[in-house]
Amino acid sequence: MQFQRSDFPEGFLFGVATSSYQIEGHAYGGAGPTHWDSFAATPGNVVRAEHGQRACDHYHRWEDDLDLIRDMGADVYRFSTSWARVLPEGTGTPNAEGLDFYDRLVDGMLARGIKPAATLYHWELPQALADKGGWRNADMPHWFAEFTETVMRRIGDRVWSAAPINEPWCVGWLSHFDGAHAPGMRDIRATARAMHHILVSHGRSIEVMRGLGMGNLGAVCNFEWVTPASDTPEDIAAAARYDAIYNRFFLGGLFRGEYPAEVLEGLGPHLPEGWQDDFATIRAPLDWLGVNYYTRKIIRHADGAWPNYAEAPTRLPLTQMGWEIYPDGLRDLLIRNAREYSGDLPIHVTENGMANPDTPDAPDTARIDYLDAHLAAVQEAIAAGAPVAGYYCWSLMDNYEWSLGYEKRFGLVHVDFDSLARTPKASYQALARWWRD
Ligand code: FCB
Repeated sequence: MQFQRSDFPEGFLFGVATSSYQIEGHAYGGAGPTHWDSFAATPGNVVRAEHGQRACDHYHRWEDDLDLIRDMGADVYRFSTSWARVLPEGTGTPNAEGLDFYDRLVDGMLARGIKPAATLYHWELPQALADKGGWRNADMPHWFAEFTETVMRRIGDRVWSAAPINEPWCVGWLSHFDGAHAPGMRDIRATARAMHHILVSHGRSIEVMRGLGMGNLGAVCNFEWVTPASDTPEDIAAAARYDAIYNRFFLGGLFRGEYPAEVLEGLGPHLPEGWQDDFATIRAPLDWLGVNYYTRKIIRHADGAWPNYAEAPTRLPLTQMGWEIYPDGLRDLLIRNAREYSGDLPIHVTENGMANPDTPDAPDTARIDYLDAHLAAVQEAIAAGAPVAGYYCWSLMDNYEWSLGYEKRFGLVHVDFDSLARTPKASYQALARWWRD
């Protein structure tokens, strides 16, 4: 690691991120079934049909895990609260054990001097709500408001920051158009409705949290830098469509109260009636923007139905996920998001990291290089005027990487999925060396 804290602006925050279903162990503590359990149980969806029933057993090992976060000198821990753990049926009677768990977890962070950064929803939709159509159902904002209130009445007085929904693109597009994540749909109408209801739910959740007197509220979106495969008008237009769907749809709703024309071209006819009237809710004022960044895509035109794009190959090195390593994309997105959407609002890089086939004894130098290069990109963005205020690494430890199961290792800490032993990797030690100073 080439950096020290003093290389970043005064007060810049460093942290690590995880999410509930990926680490907790959903079999424990009275959590209700989620759509990830049924998605994983359906052959062909998840590598080896792996699921999050045990995961990293963080539900029982959370104190040791918080010690690891403290010992590396992190300022912030970005965690999420499972809807199905707190409300096993999605609505109605809360599970007291679930609320107690997050209460203890937040107190545990505070006792260790770590700022709790809560994300309400990181993908484990209660099955009872999935059965009612999940994100396609226009009642989702109402149910999400109830969930927000249930969680934040309990921990909202102590969390440092909060965001409603992790990565709307993944929840909407990846899960309803690409079919790659639960509920595994491939349906344009479902996609349009889900993407809109996600944003309305976000807005309602922000309103509820403001009503409870909470501050430091944000939105966490994922972004990919996009490069056209050639300078033909067809490839340029295809790249613009990809960019609009991936990067501009949610920012457009949150900060401008509009959706990009390239997206409306395909999704417009399928949006719920009266969607234009929902922007007042969607645009609820925010205190920060969260940027999750991993990679870039090179996009070319493809014949066929909208959105008419396909991925073109790259010659740059790839991670274990097959994702191109492209730090300049982080710099350019931070600058563009601030200039074109979020203005002076602080931006936090809420996720960045890489999967690597790590073993406990070989140093993960590839990850150290990846983090170094992306931190340099953050510095360049700051130098160019982007108000970046924090950087959180994905992820504290190896965990359940959704449809790719336990094989893809994103952790700073190695997890042996038989014994569940945690072993800090060289990247953990490298970050710890300068975060502690
Ligand atoms: C993000 C997700 C996170 C993890 C990383 C690798 O899209 O928020 O849960 O899967 O990718």
